[in-house]
Amino acid sequence: MSPLVFRLPLAILIVGTLTPPLQAAVDFESELLPVLTKKCVDCHRAPYEEDGKKKEPKAGLRLDAAWAIIKGGENGAILTAGAPDKSALYEVVTLPKDDDDHMPPKGDDMTPEEIALLKKWIEEGADFGKWIGSTLGMPAGAQIEATKAFKPREHDLFYAALEKEVKPLSDAVLEAARAAGAQVSPLKIDSPLVRVDFLTGVSKCDDAKAAAILPLKENIVQLDLGRTVVTDAAMATVAQLPRLISLDLRQTQITDAGLEALTGLKKIQSLNLYGTGITDAGLKHLAGLKTLKNVYLWQSKATEAGVKKLVAAIPGLKASVK
Ligand code: HEC
Repeated sequence: MSPLVFRLPLAILIVGTLTPPLQAAVDFESELLPVLTKKCVDCHRAPYEEDGKKKEPKAGLRLDAAWAIIKGGENGAILTAGAPDKSALYEVVTLPKDDDDHMPPKGDDMTPEEIALLKKWIEEGADFGKWIGSTLGMPAGAQIEATKAFKPREHDLFYAALEKEVKPLSDAVLEAARAAGAQVSPLKIDSPLVRVDFLTGVSKCDDAKAAAILPLKENIVQLDLGRTVVTDAAMATVAQLPRLISLDLRQTQITDAGLEALTGLKKIQSLNLYGTGITDAGLKHLAGLKTLKNVYLWQSKATEAGVKKLVAAIPGLKASVK
């Protein structure tokens, strides 16, 4: 099989199968709603009459319905799924108490635990689950629209979390990496996360050239060293990439010993060892990488028995020697 023809479908396969690990999500209705009801909804609910006077929700904002929380108040939206720092709903409860915009302006504050829960819920995508809340004043179709808009794919949430606190690369750093032969491309528009390969000169990419990517280490999510002349020594570089999800080492001189250096990769999901000298002994080093989803071992020295053991050690892993 020609390596070039081979590359394209595989790239699609890798992107398509990167999925986030399972985690216990915050349940809005049972965990957060009681807090909002107790501490916020008195002032932020559907208009009502008291002593013959009509009371409007403060700031035009209602927190008694999913559609209303999504719609926001007179100043616009208060919630951005996946981004607490872009959500007024979160910001107002974290402001100092003497700030005019601190919420609630009177009564019990949210506790640090409740605030942490709110933050986590937003980070996870602000999913209201089955909760609808008050339908009083609800625009026709609002609920359906809301559900659609606020179910960002888990995949997007995973990357939103991954890129948190990652700074964009400076031109100087990019220049230096490019001078060493690295091609650096953003994972998607406006993301500081990058993909790196050496495809313009694989035969020139040795361990020293590969080490030139270290200034980018916080940003690298996908690294393609396939068909380069790197050796096990380059794995010391690779081991320092905290956000590495996909690593391509196909047709390199990597050995079982090199794989041992990779045991600290906390996020790795895809590892391509096609056409390498990796044996079952090398696979043993991978057994602790529980985030792995795909390991490609065609034309390596690994056996079906070795692969079977690895698959048994990592739930959900897909790996095969052919
Ligand atoms: C005692 C009444 C009261 C309570 C209780 C209250 N709020 Fe408010 N809220 C207000 C008022 C008044 C404003 C408008 C403040 C301003 O514009 O300076 C406001 C504004 C807001 C805004 C800003 C809206 C915008 O679009 O700028 C948010 C978000 C908000 N409140 C959330 C909450 C949350 C969350 C709670 C519960 C933890 C809460 N509020 C509890 C009275 C209240």
